[in-house]
Amino acid sequence: SNSIKLAILGLGTVGTGVINLINDNLNELKRRSGRDIIITEVGTRRQRDDIDTNIMQNSDLMAIAASDNVDIVIEVIGGTTLAKDVIMQAIKNGKHVVTANKALLAEHGNEIFAFAEENNVHVAYEAAVAGGIPIIKVMREALAANKIDWLAGIINGTGNFIMTEMRDKGRPFADVLSEAQELGYAEADPTFDVEGIDAAHKLALLASIAFGIPLQFDKVYCEGITGITLQDVNYAEELGYRIKHLGFAVRRDSENDGDAGVELRVHPTLIPQDALLANVNGVKNAVLVNSHPLGQTLYCGDGAGAGATASAVMADVMDLVRVLGSKDRDDQSNTGHHVPHLAFIPD
Ligand code: HSE
Repeated sequence: SNSIKLAILGLGTVGTGVINLINDNLNELKRRSGRDIIITEVGTRRQRDDIDTNIMQNSDLMAIAASDNVDIVIEVIGGTTLAKDVIMQAIKNGKHVVTANKALLAEHGNEIFAFAEENNVHVAYEAAVAGGIPIIKVMREALAANKIDWLAGIINGTGNFIMTEMRDKGRPFADVLSEAQELGYAEADPTFDVEGIDAAHKLALLASIAFGIPLQFDKVYCEGITGITLQDVNYAEELGYRIKHLGFAVRRDSENDGDAGVELRVHPTLIPQDALLANVNGVKNAVLVNSHPLGQTLYCGDGAGAGATASAVMADVMDLVRVLGSKDRDDQSNTGHHVPHLAFIPD
């Protein structure tokens, strides 16, 4: 048929954002993919009356993941237990999966990706790293032929929002964190944001693609922003520096036999105020990549929130629509351009 059937598992910030994006951009999605993109089923614990009545609501996520009425399963429930079970179930049933779940992939990605390969399906996760910035597609596609020397980035929106508000408005840490939760930026357990764990999950995912290595979340040195006081922030400014919470993945070459390994760490860092990354503020994320032969490129944009995350989820869906399309359609005239990288310098 001409329609692509989606299931959305989880109707929190991201799931709701995906529904809104599809409603807002329905015609655009159709024009650009040549297909009708429809949500057939949603997985939600309790029945909701604000969902289109054509969409089946079901609290049995394992049933949705196996449903014949679904081509692509979008997992946005979060966590590493039920989310893992439903993703494995979807894969087993030959469905492509789109997920925003960095914690799950950082911890169990090696197993999940292997199982997907066995079953000839894709597990796409653009939304898992840096929100709306297409950094996974950049690493995998635009920089595919480069040797990555290092990457450094602001990869937690909540943390960057907190640090920015502390600096600009002198607001207390806890107060800004509550606002980040209200705005839908923070993780269900915000400890993941402020202790650097979320950034470490994302760094593990980025490094795995950038260096072609297995996921090694347990190897990431991880320090968060909870120890940073208003006084630290102000002293740094006085000295011409700024405190940013950064993730680093750095190739370490050995003298004689090539690769010695990759250093992975996330921690607060003092950087000069005129550095590009020092001027990425609020919920924005940015990733700076140094690669050969391209040189340095910078990718910047909103790193959290409903709209940014939905944008990345649906970018993966649109990719998969092309994959599905090439299987059952001869007409490739609607495949469109596929040039997903962007590089610009923020104001
Ligand atoms: N809690 C995450 C953040 C959401 O603040 O960056 C996006 O991954």
